[in-house]
Amino acid sequence: MKKLKKLVVFLLSIKFIRKTYNAFSLFLARIGGLNRVTSVFYHWIGFLSFSREQYAVLTGRKSYYRNLDRRRKSRSELRRNTHRLEKGLLMRPRRKVFAKDYIEETIEFYEKAITQYKKNKEGVDQTELAWAQNVLNEYFAVVSNDDDKINKLRERFHAVDFEPGEVDKKPYKRGNPKSSIKYEDLLELSHQRRSVRWFKQKPVPRDLIDKALLVAEQSPSACNRLPYEFRIFDQPELVKKVSSIPFGSAGYRDNIPTIIVVVGKLENYFSPRDRHLVYVDSALAVMPFMYALETLGLASSSINWPDFEPLEAKMQKTLGLSPDERPIMLIAVGYADPEGMVAYSQKKSLEVLRTYNKIGQ
Ligand SMILES: Cc1cc2nc3c(=O)[nH]c(=O)nc-3n(C[C@H](O)[C@H](O)[C@H](O)COP(=O)(O)O)c2cc1C
Repeated sequence: MKKLKKLVVFLLSIKFIRKTYNAFSLFLARIGGLNRVTSVFYHWIGFLSFSREQYAVLTGRKSYYRNLDRRRKSRSELRRNTHRLEKGLLMRPRRKVFAKDYIEETIEFYEKAITQYKKNKEGVDQTELAWAQNVLNEYFAVVSNDDDKINKLRERFHAVDFEPGEVDKKPYKRGNPKSSIKYEDLLELSHQRRSVRWFKQKPVPRDLIDKALLVAEQSPSACNRLPYEFRIFDQPELVKKVSSIPFGSAGYRDNIPTIIVVVGKLENYFSPRDRHLVYVDSALAVMPFMYALETLGLASSSINWPDFEPLEAKMQKTLGLSPDERPIMLIAVGYADPEGMVAYSQKKSLEVLRTYNKIGQ
């Protein structure tokens, strides 16, 4: 009788439920994970966890093509091709003729951008147009004039009536700049930065956020597209609303002064092969943003954004996101409460973290 009671208690226990769930998950993952075909079936049979992302990638692609003729503040296709031209210009040795396969479309992108800009300059990133103009100008100045196709495009470029007001937004010699920041300073800053979850109830000045963003945007991004937007909330009601959405802010969300949702924009890509870049590029921008905050006396904590349907739907509705805008992560920002505790967060030893010239497992 006692044994039976024990068995019933076990069967109803969390431990049993967890064990059964884990075993079942492993069983399905084993079958689904046999190869790529079985994994497609696995995801078909009710496991729709990626469907929002698939839809996002597809709508992003649709937006990319539709956007080509639309007025926009920033134009990813022009940014990408200007970047490609810059790479061609800095190659060693530089080829006499290069970019032949994409220079025509670049001129089309440029003409459209300038036409749209002239119709309505409101909010358009003029620095982007100046960069494109300067780089194209340099390209046509150095590329060989033996090629008919390029000569015609050169004429088309010079026929566009646009005065950028700047001439030096093009490849330049790096020289030997010497930063006054020593390795030890950076190491110290990296130790100072810990995820801070307890903040003083003091507003965060917007100019400090802007200063940190000026550092963040210097981060590398694939084809220099910066495919993200920092959506910053500092109105208490909105902070409360936004910070209540993710799971990871539980327990400390009520004392966050400013919260940022980093949103990745899949409209930047014509191909699904680039779908991960919103995550890579955003993460690369967020880290220096956090270091910059530290240098300005502020602190921060990342907040996880799981790909979990109910949260996704809530965030989409709250922020009014379009299907191709993907929340990447959230960042809580504020002045650290010196009495608040931070986790020790032991990092990994280098022996575990790194390998050199490793091939195989
Ligand atoms: C992508 C990402 C998601 C995170 N999500 C959360 C979160 O939801 N809640 C939280 O309190 N901390 C979160 N953190 C903070 C981590 O717990 C923290 O970075 C880690 O434990 C190391 O501590 P440190 O940042 O102080 O070095 C997240 C960090 C990253 C990079």
